[in-house]
Amino acid sequence: MRSIALANQKGGVGKTTTAIHLAHGLTLAGQRTVLFDLDPQGNATLAMQGMDDGGHDPTGAFAPLRPLGPDLWILPSPGAERVVPRTAQLDVRRLVQLADSLASEGVDWLVIDCPPRMDAWGWAGLQLSQEVLIPVPPEFFPMHGLSQMVATLREAAAEFPGRAGLMGYLVTMLDPRESVALEVLEDLRENLGDRLLSTLVYRDPRLVEAASHGETVFRYNVFSKGARAYGELVREVMYGR
Ligand SMILES: Nc1ncnc2c1ncn2[C@@H]1O[C@H](COP(=O)(O)OP(=O)(O)OP(=O)(O)O)[C@@H](O)[C@H]1O
Ligand SMILES: [Mg+2]
Repeated sequence: MRSIALANQKGGVGKTTTAIHLAHGLTLAGQRTVLFDLDPQGNATLAMQGMDDGGHDPTGAFAPLRPLGPDLWILPSPGAERVVPRTAQLDVRRLVQLADSLASEGVDWLVIDCPPRMDAWGWAGLQLSQEVLIPVPPEFFPMHGLSQMVATLREAAAEFPGRAGLMGYLVTMLDPRESVALEVLEDLRENLGDRLLSTLVYRDPRLVEAASHGETVFRYNVFSKGARAYGELVREVMYGR
């Protein structure tokens, strides 16, 4: 089983959108995939709530996971149904056991959506992932935030050997009509080199609409720019560039 966390301490960069499309895209490529929603905001859980069209065993082999399709399950965030108190404890040992049991039951991929800060939930996401993919919108000063994130990954990798390796950076929300965005993209290419994935995720309102319908664009509008970009990401994650 390969495990990938979507992490960035900066908020609103496309972590959740990327996590749900990577997870659903992998199942469409024939891979058995589990998505952990490790954000108390519960956005991934809400953005996938229209996906299960029934017919799947509600408890399934892997309770407490919720089935979303033939080869796709989610560990929902409690935050999707109620406000999670700031003091709520997270049972990280249980999560590690669950992830280990998924690996032995033939799950191919674990995709983890992290919150926009490295609290107990974010840290658990790093502990559970072999690789971390960092979404980056091409805005001003992205390198500053990224160096903080890289320092956090180093700390996590030191504490959890074999975990939290940097898979790379993914450009999200790119609007080619904004000349600033194209300039920042050039800077990112110069500074990040081959750690920048070749997939580019363009800004696409269909991604917002799909989430409000509780589905991915692979179901909501498969001909959208967003579906094409995230299809390309699935290919790049599975097979490299
Ligand atoms: N490529 C895109 N084009 C247009 N809108 C997008 C795109 N990617 C994400 N969005 C929208 O931008 C908003 C933030 O995206 P998302 O929730 O994925 O970010 P996040 O990093 O998970 O945020 P948070 O830090 O709050 O968890 C959402 O409304 C989402 O639908
Ligand atoms: Mg999110």
